[in-house]
Amino acid sequence: MAKLPSILKIKGITKKFGGLVALNKVSLEVRRHELLGLIGPNGSGKTTLFNVITGYYKPEEGRIYYKEQDITGLRPHKIVKMGVARTFQIPKPFGRLTVLENVMSAAMYGREATASKGKAKSLAMEWLKYVGLDKKADIEAKTLNIVERKLMELARALSTGPDLLLLDELVAGLNTSEMMNVVELVRRLVDEKGLTIIMVEHVMKAVMSISDRVFVLHRGEKLAEGKPEEIAKDPKVIEAYLGEPIKV
Ligand SMILES: Nc1ncnc2c1ncn2[C@@H]1O[C@H](COP(=O)(O)OP(=O)(O)OP(=O)(O)O)[C@@H](O)[C@H]1O
Ligand SMILES: [Mg+2]
Repeated sequence: MAKLPSILKIKGITKKFGGLVALNKVSLEVRRHELLGLIGPNGSGKTTLFNVITGYYKPEEGRIYYKEQDITGLRPHKIVKMGVARTFQIPKPFGRLTVLENVMSAAMYGREATASKGKAKSLAMEWLKYVGLDKKADIEAKTLNIVERKLMELARALSTGPDLLLLDELVAGLNTSEMMNVVELVRRLVDEKGLTIIMVEHVMKAVMSISDRVFVLHRGEKLAEGKPEEIAKDPKVIEAYLGEPIKV
């Protein structure tokens, strides 16, 4: 089968914070309908890469193309409207709003941004249902438990109407069965909904089981890239990050 065209092309991105080089000439291509796992030790630049893609930080060098358009340096809200959404490593929900209101606020800001509350509401409810949170729609967000918060964060991102979704440690802090449920949900977003996903994760069981391909960052540079089973036994990756070969 012919390879699908790429949706995202990152070319030679360098991002510095003062004297610290957080990303050093990183290049990466992501194909449409691909689920890419992005892994690497703490501080290797994973979240920074998301922040650069989504316009929160401007890189010193390099370009980012989304659907063949140069989006380098565009403001975050513009990039959202083009169909790129993210979740945050540390979510900041509006605790006093209901779950539905939290998701609606994202729907109104997103790609199908609408002044119509009714439309935002139906979109928000649709995604709450998809992630399995519809029964909690009317409760205050602050009363949610950790897995429900993660699912709400996911529903918020989905309600902006993305084609490309960036997930930053979505399953961190969940127990194994909660984690596997969320992981299956993420896989379904690619298989059923046709999304393209980059998933940052430290939990190898999660990332290796669902990724089509894995990209490894180390000290702001690409260390390796390949199929999960290749990455799991790559000596460079084992030395820098995994510690020992892992079963995939
Ligand atoms: N806003 C910032 N100001 C200064 N330094 C920063 C900033 N954001 C990130 N850094 C630094 O850049 C490097 C990469 O950080 P980043 O958060 O991208 O790592 P990460 O791979 O996401 O790590 P983790 O797995 O712990 O989340 C780290 O050394 C970090 O301290
Ligand atoms: Mg991070």
